[in-house]
Amino acid sequence: MQTSWKNKRITLGLTGGIAIYKSAGLLRRLVNDLGLDVSVIMTAAAQKFMTPLIFENFSGKAVVTEMFPRARVGTRHIDLGRDVDLVLVCPATANIVAKAAHGIADDMLSTVILTAGSKTLFALAMNSHMYLNPITQANIHQLQEKGYGFIPPESGDLACHDTGPGRLAGEETILEAVRQRLSWSDRLRGKRVVVTAGPTREYLDSVRFISNRSSGKMGYAIAAEACQQGAEVILISGPSHESAPPDSQLLVVESALEMRQALIEHGKKADYLFMTAAVEDIRPVKQAPTKLKKDELPDSLAITRSPDLVSEFRKLNTTCCIVAFSVEVEDGKRRSLHKMQTKGADYIVWNNPAEPGSAFATDTNAGLLMAADGQEWRLPLASKRRFAAELIEQILTHRRGA
Ligand SMILES: Cc1cc2nc3c(=O)[nH]c(=O)nc-3n(C[C@H](O)[C@H](O)[C@H](O)COP(=O)(O)O)c2cc1C
Repeated sequence: MQTSWKNKRITLGLTGGIAIYKSAGLLRRLVNDLGLDVSVIMTAAAQKFMTPLIFENFSGKAVVTEMFPRARVGTRHIDLGRDVDLVLVCPATANIVAKAAHGIADDMLSTVILTAGSKTLFALAMNSHMYLNPITQANIHQLQEKGYGFIPPESGDLACHDTGPGRLAGEETILEAVRQRLSWSDRLRGKRVVVTAGPTREYLDSVRFISNRSSGKMGYAIAAEACQQGAEVILISGPSHESAPPDSQLLVVESALEMRQALIEHGKKADYLFMTAAVEDIRPVKQAPTKLKKDELPDSLAITRSPDLVSEFRKLNTTCCIVAFSVEVEDGKRRSLHKMQTKGADYIVWNNPAEPGSAFATDTNAGLLMAADGQEWRLPLASKRRFAAELIEQILTHRRGA
């Protein structure tokens, strides 16, 4: 693992909790031991507990305390989230987590977090009633599903004389989480990752089409995770209601032929292809340019097969690591392995829709990842974002060892 972080910039957000006194020592270690360039933001509540002076001294910079100071400050509400490698909120109150979960940006720190998105890591510290309140738990869960990081609190005696979970994690635990998060954000740096997502629509006339139930959620989750790990991401998507990660390049297509064209144009230099799109296997032989009237509709539909995009892509780019996806029920493992071999993919994820929470139009996924060299890994039921993280982790680890 990398040990020098001299070229890394982070923003340290301080919120209004008793544990803030521990953040002074932490800041020293972030600067002196890890060599990080740290900018500090304090909320109004944080300043009731401590003054900025000590943090100014340890960071070597003026501490940001206001959104609208008298002096001109340009767009630092964006810069301090966009141009840094990590936003560490320590201590993180229940309030800042709630604001982040709901997109509230009513002071400098919450605005910076909204800009930084899933680059944010919260070190939680609060009374155990606040922590265990289902509202706080739901907020944490919601952010975790979007890739935000959390350092859970430890259990023990709390400043408010309660006992339970709520104490800020130890300094070493927080430093380790920062190191891990920073190295994570570089794992795919310099790599071009192409992700296909969603269904395709194969038109019979200008309004009628053949399609399938794919929502695009799996592909969008992989795209978000790959962005977070530093990749240049091109997301080629059929119709979907999902939001593309802001750092990705989104190309919207409709038919299998349009998706093929986008792959030809953008896939030549790809290092990874995640082929999650449910490319419709069949398409009408003829497409009417306008809506057919009822009496013009054929009694039976002449169809033809769509091209196999993975096999074609392999010929176009012989070095790319191709991860194919296969939805199969009966004899699914054998059929998926066969697909991987005949299409020239390096990995295949077999989804069995008979398994609860798996595959189409769900928020979760579970599956079996298989490699061309015969190795396989069970990917347990998880949100699609966590499934994506686990999938990338297994593939990168396997390729490092290969
Ligand atoms: C003495 C005292 C200690 C507090 N400690 C915490 C704490 O550890 N965690 C927390 O979530 N809120 C704590 N609060 C409540 C927050 O300060 C309050 O919710 C505030 O609005 C948080 O604002 P901020 O998130 O913008 O910093 C404490 C309040 C007081 C008066």
